[in-house]
Amino acid sequence: MPTSVLCVVGTRPNLIKAGPLMRELRRHPEAFRTRLVHTGQHYDRNLSQLLFEDLGMPEPDLNLGVGSGTHAEQTAKVMIALESTFQSERPDLVVVFGDVNSTMAGAIVAAKLCVKVAHVESGLRSFDRTMPEEINRIVTDHLSDYLFVSERSGLENLSREGIPDAKVFFTGNIMIDSLLATLDVVKQSDVIERLHLSPRQYAVMTLHRPSNVDDRETLAGILQTMRAVAARTPIVFPCHPRTRHNIERFGLGGHLSASLILTEPLGYTDFCRLTYESAFVLTDSGGIQEETTFLKVPCITMRDNTERPVTVTIGSNVMTGNDSARIIAAVDAILGGRAKAASIPELWDGHTAERIVEILKGI
Ligand code: UD1
Repeated sequence: MPTSVLCVVGTRPNLIKAGPLMRELRRHPEAFRTRLVHTGQHYDRNLSQLLFEDLGMPEPDLNLGVGSGTHAEQTAKVMIALESTFQSERPDLVVVFGDVNSTMAGAIVAAKLCVKVAHVESGLRSFDRTMPEEINRIVTDHLSDYLFVSERSGLENLSREGIPDAKVFFTGNIMIDSLLATLDVVKQSDVIERLHLSPRQYAVMTLHRPSNVDDRETLAGILQTMRAVAARTPIVFPCHPRTRHNIERFGLGGHLSASLILTEPLGYTDFCRLTYESAFVLTDSGGIQEETTFLKVPCITMRDNTERPVTVTIGSNVMTGNDSARIIAAVDAILGGRAKAASIPELWDGHTAERIVEILKGI
């Protein structure tokens, strides 16, 4: 009997991680019966459906449509919906990805139903428990039976927390599988032409962390810093709905500079081409720190810590927090030809899904 596998996704970054694994699992129908459940944590077309299309992913077998809410509300709604799903589908294995609320909810429900849990992108730690994702990572890892780690820091973190080595596998970064699989299509995106930009003559910014966008003064400060940066280099700003709502709610529309090119959230291929051709990226995202490292595009991360330290130690990433002077100094270094030299981390090679599936075949 094939192993019955249920992959759980909820948000945009989950889809980027699940795509390659779904594809690889379905290449082995003799070993796995694979289904995809979307919790509906992200529901806007640009954050969800567009990604399915860009990544060539099959439609989810089930969509639970939970939507937004406070952390407890959203997590609880996902848990209730997943409990009845797992009870009716009776999977042998539940796979969860990354660190979002849907990830933790899936791990808790599966563990309590005594269903085995695999966590893809395990072991990352920011050591900052004010980040909701850090709580999600810790809970998910401690409930998982198979922990697939993307960078070596994850091995040390899990070992320090007492997780047995036998459960932990260093399989590499599955986001890079997605990037490499779509690179030819990415290069054909016409996003730069649509926005009337020239390669290396613009920067890209993304901003959605609660610590940067949920407080009026902090968000106003970042937008003001961006005015100074945009005076030197146009900045494309695909704006996450959380951030857009807050700019409106706080009345900060006037802080947006004319050189800040505000767009809707972009699809995967458009966003990757935009990144690939940019002079540099400013972000507070996790995944974008990794994509820029792989593409060797300078990245300025407007956070005080990162759960992905390899992007700083050997990749193209520098951390500035949301401090204006540090951000400007980092921009100066890049525009002055002093961007840091970067290499690609170990096992970020496009074969992570294959390595995970080989391990899952043996369970
Ligand atoms: C979530 C993840 C975060 C991840 C991010 C990627 C958690 C705790 N956070 O943050 O780790 O980096 O996704 O994008 O799981 N909204 C819409 N349309 C949507 C989805 C959300 O308008 O399709 C708005 C709603 O106002 C919602 C807010 O965005 O309340 C936040 O959405 P939510 O899913 O709670 O968190 P994100 O900020 O997207």
